[in-house]
Amino acid sequence: MAKKVTKKEDVFSWDYAPALEGTAHVKIKNKYDLFIDGKFVKPMSGRYFDTINPATEECVSQIAHGNDADVDKAVKAARKAYKNVWSKVSPSDRAKYIYRIARLMQERARELAVIETIDSGKVITESRDIDIPLACNHFFYYAGWADKLAYAFPNRKVEPLGVVGQIIPWNFPLLMAAWKIAPALAAGNTVVLKPAETTSLTALKLAEIIKDSGLPDGVVNIVTGHGDTGAAIVNHADVNKIAFTGSTQVGKLIQASIAGTDKKLTLELGGKSANIILDDAPIDQAVEGIVNGIFFNQGHVCCAGSRLFVQENVADLVLKKLKRRMDQLIIGDPLDKNTDIGAINSKEQLNTINKYIAIGKDEGADIYQASPKVPEKGYYCAPTLFTDVAQSNRIVQEEIFGPVLTVQTFRTVDEVIQKANNSPYGLAAGIWSDKGARVFNLSSKLKAGVVWANTYNKFDPTSPFGGYKESGFGREGGVHGLSAYVNLKS
Ligand code: NAI
Ligand code: MG
Repeated sequence: MAKKVTKKEDVFSWDYAPALEGTAHVKIKNKYDLFIDGKFVKPMSGRYFDTINPATEECVSQIAHGNDADVDKAVKAARKAYKNVWSKVSPSDRAKYIYRIARLMQERARELAVIETIDSGKVITESRDIDIPLACNHFFYYAGWADKLAYAFPNRKVEPLGVVGQIIPWNFPLLMAAWKIAPALAAGNTVVLKPAETTSLTALKLAEIIKDSGLPDGVVNIVTGHGDTGAAIVNHADVNKIAFTGSTQVGKLIQASIAGTDKKLTLELGGKSANIILDDAPIDQAVEGIVNGIFFNQGHVCCAGSRLFVQENVADLVLKKLKRRMDQLIIGDPLDKNTDIGAINSKEQLNTINKYIAIGKDEGADIYQASPKVPEKGYYCAPTLFTDVAQSNRIVQEEIFGPVLTVQTFRTVDEVIQKANNSPYGLAAGIWSDKGARVFNLSSKLKAGVVWANTYNKFDPTSPFGGYKESGFGREGGVHGLSAYVNLKS
């Protein structure tokens, strides 16, 4: 169990042991400034906002609200660093800086994991074993590309874009920062990044790490704030590219506001991904895959397997096992390593999820909820599934971004392909089957950027990730993730 030991003038300290074998001493300051030109600076407006621990509803720290003038300062710092320093650093030296950041992140991995969990509500086993190691690995992976860009794009001259603006969401705070910053730096760009307003802390810790790494001032700038801060980055005239991960609604807004400018854009937006269980699937494994697909990170996952399709002749069995498994899930303190389901990231998101649960009931679907003991304080939502749903139901069509699964059955493979593709989104899909031929057939016909077979929610820096249709465009990860950050000359 986490123990908050002190609150001295301006730091909270936690001594945290069980999940981390030993103690991670975590210090969170009462107040965080903006990270611009290698220094922490006060926001021009003097305004700060609270960041909350969603598991306890306690205020953890105050975060600076960057306005247009702060963003302008950050972009100027990034431009100056690009022109005078970063564009002159040799690719192999660029790699060394990025490796150094990765190593420093690894050294502080426990601290980062605990802070991520406190600020976001995700369980410590996820922060510790998945998010933070993956974030480090993105830096390691892209460091390796910095001096090999000529191999990534044979027979082309590769040039950086310049200053890139990056806006990230709250579901994988440090991991999304890594997805964005690592390839941008490897390709020789400088960065202005805005974390999401509910989860700024690990990005600010990353700012400390970047400072410690000796990366030249202004190469990475982190400007915290709300949507208006993000819009200031999007609308700044001297930004060459915007990379955004978040809601489809804001993605469309950004697309409209940069139309007609020379800014480049990549969007990683929402999803409503199909997880398909064929009748020859290894059922117990598939049930684990369903649970992982929709309940991992409380369902705050753009590629969550939120639409389950089960072949009719195994549907009863799968549902029986799934419900039994849902009843066993432990929901509660995210800092406890035995917890399966942590807190919903914010009150707003909990309201959204509850709104959709009410819509599902109104639409006439049958609801099943595990009834675990939920802590009194904090934002929690029991794992939920809806059966008896129609393809046209809103809970089947719209992204809920919570631990809510809809279940449909199918008879033939053609039928499930048609249903799975009947969505405005096309981010991911899962297939569970014992037969390679069935897997290949389905995976070639599903309109989704990522298709998993007999697994779900597996991520790797070498593998390009991104969507079809309204799930966005551009790819992150792998060699393909580099193309978003370079100009190619023939
Ligand atoms: P959001 O799209 O508003 O937030 C994502 C990021 O965009 C945040 O950093 C936010 O400050 C920034 N932002 C907001 N308005 C902006 C603007 N006009 N210009 C530039 N940046 C702006 O997402 P929100 O409101 O937190 O969540 C709403 C829904 O979006 C969720 O229920 C979920 O369905 C979806 N979502 C999807 C994500 C994904 O990874 N695909 C991530 C987060 C949310
Ligand atoms: Mg928070």
